[in-house]
Amino acid sequence: MSPVSGPLRVRVPASSANLGPGFDALGLALGLHDELTVEATDDGLVVEVRGEGAGEVPLDDTHLVVRSMEAAFSLLGERPAGVRLTCTNAVPHGRGLGSSAAAIVGGLVAARALVAGEDRLDDLMLLQLATDLEGHPDNVAPALLGGLTIAWVDGAAAAAQRLDCDVPVTVFVPPEPVSTERARGLLPDTVTHADASFNAGRAALLVAALTAAPDRLISATEDRLHQTYRSLAMPDSYALVRRMRVEGVPAIISGAGPTVLAFARGIDDFCPPGWVVHHLDVDPHGAVVLPAS
Ligand code: HSE
Repeated sequence: MSPVSGPLRVRVPASSANLGPGFDALGLALGLHDELTVEATDDGLVVEVRGEGAGEVPLDDTHLVVRSMEAAFSLLGERPAGVRLTCTNAVPHGRGLGSSAAAIVGGLVAARALVAGEDRLDDLMLLQLATDLEGHPDNVAPALLGGLTIAWVDGAAAAAQRLDCDVPVTVFVPPEPVSTERARGLLPDTVTHADASFNAGRAALLVAALTAAPDRLISATEDRLHQTYRSLAMPDSYALVRRMRVEGVPAIISGAGPTVLAFARGIDDFCPPGWVVHHLDVDPHGAVVLPAS
């Protein structure tokens, strides 16, 4: 089959993983998007990056979108002779808002569309490929499916359940990144039964709170498995979460941090100097292929 002629556009959302108690399981797609334009060419690779990551990320075949496209082409056994890729990024890097998941899912969806491979690489296979590339399913599931997702791994097989969710979100993005590797390195190897059971109850309640019972959000966003351990790497974020929670605002660390996410609006006064605030809706769609503009 020959590659689709002309450029394709793919829009993929930011995401927030964990959401407090749902460590490595819950994720929410957010209305802040990276956009990829891809086109099959006769030869070579041309990568352009605008916005977040411009001047910082590589522009060759080590670029995460390109590596992800290559993984999809390999699985599909088909690739165009050359590719021109333009990334217009709005998702900040290294802030716990799923920029890697957006790059991976965006690249996979773009590659699949470029060789018209939708019938050979369905969303479940794509979720698996994205999880293998990212390492955890909790950001890639919402980036792919939109809404609120519960993701898990059964043996080596990734799976996700998507739920509709409509809550107001405010994120406070600090100026400096924290790597996921560093944040994961702060976690203990074992936790107590009491803490595990505390989080199991809160995670279950959070699914109810986000889909049907928003008045439960303050209790539902309590966590004992990761945020306190990680506070060493992001003390200002942790202090902001505590400040907001004392005032009754359901606030959490987004993903591996250091962004702070709150399920509320009208709280901009909490924003520390030099941080960036975004008011976001939940993205219900996940990654979508758009008509070329
Ligand atoms: N659940 C992951 C973590 C998200 O908190 O480490 C980042 O990949």
